[in-house]
Amino acid sequence: MSLVVEPKVYVDVLTGELTGGRVTESTRTIGGLQGYFLDETVRMAMDQSSPAYRVQAFEPEKEGTPGAICLATTTLYAGMVGDEYFLTRGHFHVNEDRPELEVTVNGTGFLVLMDATGKTWTESMSAGSVHHVPPATAHRVANIGVEPLVFISYWPSETGHDYAPIAERGFGIRVRQVDGKPTVVRS
Ligand SMILES: [Fe+2]
Repeated sequence: MSLVVEPKVYVDVLTGELTGGRVTESTRTIGGLQGYFLDETVRMAMDQSSPAYRVQAFEPEKEGTPGAICLATTTLYAGMVGDEYFLTRGHFHVNEDRPELEVTVNGTGFLVLMDATGKTWTESMSAGSVHHVPPATAHRVANIGVEPLVFISYWPSETGHDYAPIAERGFGIRVRQVDGKPTVVRS
């Protein structure tokens, strides 16, 4: 057996792009974000096949199985549904004591957070910003810029993802354009 093993996965540190045989990729379209935006009529009138975000992931273990740190690059495209900025669905973790780390590669946005009591807050994202998502805290991202918002996430493989509470109740705050500026408002 060789004493030198070549890496199986690479991340382009300038763009966040992942390459390698074990990288998976998925795209969430506008059509796949039913119910996530305030103005559903506007979302329905948009091209349902248009991509809202793309996720490339490297998961050494299956979701829910301990033993690895996973990594994913999310590219959240710039755009709006009415006056609301494009967003990711957001989730709690099934194993709620598991944290997560986000590192912004490109673009500007808000990381939207909500704890188990419903308390909500946001953190500003820009290239190089590092964000700790505490345990038991739901998280989503909104792109407030004109470029794609690219960030890399790291989480333990046993974390698990629970999208249902956010799909049903949202975050209680939204990132909208008010008087021409990105603004966090209660919803
Ligand atoms: Fe997460």
